[in-house]
Parts: sequence; structure tokens; C-alpha cells
Amino acid sequence: MLPEFYQFHLPTKVLYGPGIAFDFSHELAGFGIRRYFLVTDRVLHNLGISARIADRLKEDGYEIPGSYIDVPQDASVACVEEIARQARLAGAEGLLAVGGGSVIDAAKAANCIFSKGGRLVEDYSGVSTLSEPLKPLIVIPTTAGTGSECTLAAVIYDQENATKLAFSDRFLLPNLAVLDPQITASMPPLLTAATGMDALTHAIEAYVSVDASPHSQALGQVAIELITNNIIRAVEDGNDLEARGAMLIGANLAGISFSHSMVGCVHSMAHATGGMARVPHGIANAILLPHGMDYNMNACKHLYVRLARYLGGTRDVPDSDSSARTAICRVKELTKELNRLCGLPLRLRDVGVTEGMLPLIAKKAEEDGTAIYNPRLVTAEDIIVSLESAF
Ligand SMILES: [Fe+2]
Repeated sequence: MLPEFYQFHLPTKVLYGPGIAFDFSHELAGFGIRRYFLVTDRVLHNLGISARIADRLKEDGYEIPGSYIDVPQDASVACVEEIARQARLAGAEGLLAVGGGSVIDAAKAANCIFSKGGRLVEDYSGVSTLSEPLKPLIVIPTTAGTGSECTLAAVIYDQENATKLAFSDRFLLPNLAVLDPQITASMPPLLTAATGMDALTHAIEAYVSVDASPHSQALGQVAIELITNNIIRAVEDGNDLEARGAMLIGANLAGISFSHSMVGCVHSMAHATGGMARVPHGIANAILLPHGMDYNMNACKHLYVRLARYLGGTRDVPDSDSSARTAICRVKELTKELNRLCGLPLRLRDVGVTEGMLPLIAKKAEEDGTAIYNPRLVTAEDIIVSLESAF
């Protein structure tokens, strides 16, 4: 059945290619500015990756008047405000983010106050708070997970309230996304697995979302195939550039898909778990994905039959209840294999969650903004069963 109405909009230009992160300056000419403030994290700084990218841009006549190299795993409100403050002080005209989802989200959120002034939480958290374009933002993802380089959302950690704040606006979308598999080769196996499972969760949740559309499902389908066919290879051999490339493209397509159709109860639970117990986002999703799929089983069996085909790498799946179950089994098998290969955690109890936290996690999951897109109503009373089985 087709939706009554939907729209699809992607203003971000995407470049893909091994080595492209060191050869894209010609793409900047159209933005009409020369001074980019660099946003990155300590690991990439120490590896010299962000500096190499910055040096190459300088060779091509661009300026990097300052940088913020300390974006943490979960960028906080204070971190975002500091990036904006320093970028303004440096006289930058745009932002260049080199990093994983946290770095890119921090840059997206910082661009609000960097471009328009005001206060981050009060003026920009929530949905559609912007009315005009921000300053140019160029992003180079170094993980294959969030797809944040092509999404209209950013998630920032609110330390005061131990919760995650969502920002969602079409003007948050970066202007240019540079996808270079060579850059992601530096990711260790566990990070590769966790971020890859985040991407797979995006694709699956967007596919069954109440806001799914043929456009988002088409992207989700290819994303699921690319990720499931390559995640093990990328974990086993980080220098397998074909697998790295497939993961990067898969994560990007999954990002575009969920940017249009949103995610559901797995992310509701993962956001709550991340806020309460500081569980890394990808790991929380990897643990919770099969349990969230189980939660939605009766609401979207027909879609799971299709997912079983994309997840299993075979089209030969009959239209039956057991095929729908196959989709969940396939995800479980994948996480078990990743656990064997790189220690990807499989239970909430293994990542610092206590049994006593579960009722509050369930309540926060019910209140999370993603819950309304889930195909089955998310209530604390029902979702706690999924959390208990994931515990
Ligand atoms: Fe996610």
C-alpha cells in the first residue's frame, strides 16, 4: 500500500572514492568561502588523519584558521557551544567536520549558533527550529554507521539531565559529504561492528517505520544488502577497501533512508540506554535490534518476509510466518558472529546496565521522539519485556 503523501529531499552532494578525502577541494569553489574551522576528535587528530586533510586543503588555497580536536564519544551541549565560540573567534566562514557520528552531530548543532547566534538548547533543540540555510558545512565520515553526513538530525548529550537531545531540521543537512573508504580503514574491529550495526538498525527501522515510503525503502533495501554482505569482511580485515566502501555507502544510504522515514523502538531504547548508562549508541542498537524486531513482529510480518530476503542474501524466501522470523534470526546470527570475532556485547548486563535501571529506561523509551514512528505503539509497560529479554 502506498503512503497518502510523502516527500524526498536531499540537498547534500555526495562524493565517493578511495582517496577522495585528499582530493575534493575543487568541490568547494561553489560555496564562495575560504576559511573552514576544523572539528574532529582526539583519536583522528593523533592518527594525523584530520591534519592531512587540512594540509591538503591549505595546499589548494583554503585556510583552516582554527580547530576543535576534543569532541568526545557523546558530544555534550558545552562541547557544541565551545566549537561555535571558537569558530567565531577564529573568523571562520564555514565548518569542516572529520569524524564519526558524534563529531558530525556536534558540527551540525554547532553550526546553528555559529551561523545564527542564540542558545543551543533553548533556540534550536527539537524539530524545524531553523528558517534559513546555515553556513557551509563539509563532512568527512570516518566511521560507517550514523549516516549523519546525509541526515537532517543531530543528537547531543545533555549532561545536566543525563539525557540525549534531538535536533531535527532540513537546514542541518551538510552541504557536502565526502565518502572515502581509506579513511574508515583506521577503525578497529569492535568500532566497525558497532557502527555497522547502528547503520543496519537505521535501515531496518526506517523500512518498517509508519513513515516508510518507496523511496526510503528502496535505499534501505540496498543498504541492508551492502551491510549484511560486508560487515564481517570489514571486521575481519580492516584494510579490505571494497568491504569498507560497501559499508560506507550502506551506512550513507541507511542514513538517507531514516532521515526521511525515521527510526523506531530500537532507537527509543538505545537513546534511553545511552543517556542512563552511557552505552555507546552502536553497541546499544546491536544488543537491542533483535529484541526490538521481535517487539514489532505482529505489526509488520509482511515487511519482515521481505527483509529476510535482503538480510539472507537470497531471494528464495517463501511468504510465511517462519520467513518473517528468519529476518530476526539472521540479525541474531550476525551479532553472534560479531561477538565471536571482536567481542561485540550481546546483553545489556554486559555494558553497565543494571536490572534496576530497566523501568526508567522503558519510561524514557516511551517518551523518546522516535517511538511515534514505530509500527507498534511503544509503552513502558510493553517495551520493558524487550529490555528484560535483552538484559
Ligand atoms: Fe542510530
